[in-house]
Amino acid sequence: MEEFIQNMPKAELHLHIEGTFEPELMFEIAQRNQISIPYASVEELKNAYKFSCLQDFLDIYYQGAQVLQHEKDFYDLTMAYLKKCKEQNIRHTEIMFDPQTHTERGIPFESVLTGIHNACLDAQKEFGISFVLIMSFLRHLSEEEAFKTLKQAEPFKDKIMAIGLDSSEKGNPPLKFVRVFQAAVEQGYIPLAHAGEEGDADYIWQAIDLLQVHRIDHGNNCITDRNLVEEIIERDLALTVCPLSNVALKVVPNIDKHPLKIMMQLGLYLTINSDDPAYFGGYINENFNAIQNSLDLSRWDLYTLAKNSFVYSLASFDEKSKYL
Ligand code: HPA
Ligand code: ZN
Repeated sequence: MEEFIQNMPKAELHLHIEGTFEPELMFEIAQRNQISIPYASVEELKNAYKFSCLQDFLDIYYQGAQVLQHEKDFYDLTMAYLKKCKEQNIRHTEIMFDPQTHTERGIPFESVLTGIHNACLDAQKEFGISFVLIMSFLRHLSEEEAFKTLKQAEPFKDKIMAIGLDSSEKGNPPLKFVRVFQAAVEQGYIPLAHAGEEGDADYIWQAIDLLQVHRIDHGNNCITDRNLVEEIIERDLALTVCPLSNVALKVVPNIDKHPLKIMMQLGLYLTINSDDPAYFGGYINENFNAIQNSLDLSRWDLYTLAKNSFVYSLASFDEKSKYL
């Protein structure tokens, strides 16, 4: 089965570029930028990756991202992930980035965007991997800050296809970002959002009704609300499920208890993704392998999940038609 998973062409639809920052590269970039990391070694840093909830993880994830300063840092980070994509037979990827994590500490928006985008262009040329960029707003920050970010993105609009919503979910409902999402949609961005990872089903209702999202990131908690499940299916919205992330952040008690199979049986359209692979123990194939081992998925289940990743991607028809 591992070979079957490796050989399947796949698309990744839920991936935070800052979450691909491997400790080895973090130390390397910290050294060249002359920044000190509060851990003595790669081993010590890895040992700190034990989380009891989303916020625990976010604290370490934002700390790690502080090391990124120059366009080249963002290029190197992104290229390292795209090499992984090549190794794992990921043919299309939709990369989220959090500009506010960087602009808040004085890094120009342009350095972030250009570094990431140039790496994607090079990987498209060298490895044949297509890509889409998703600009995510940090939901623990204000609506005003999100509007500022939308403004900063204006000169680079043609390079960013969609907007997302991430960071601390509880207490920061989609409702808080209705106006900025409306403004972004008017500018042509496609709306996406994390919902129902730690937040309850009501946050997913808000994401689909108020933000009009085209896809739901995570969405696990929809299974507590039968009407919501029906509505998601009716509107043909996919959920980007991240199994190893769910285990690492205690969204599920362990991988054997992951509701993925139940969700598939309910008729939901699911994809498999790695979220923050450097922090959660694996890239897309490790996620597929973990879920296949624990839930005994068939080849048909695996094929369906991989097919969904192309069907529900934002790739052009030309790109999609290579795989469907
Ligand atoms: N949830 C919310 N925000 C995030 C995540 C996540 O899983 N990863 C990076 N930012
Ligand atoms: Zn995420």
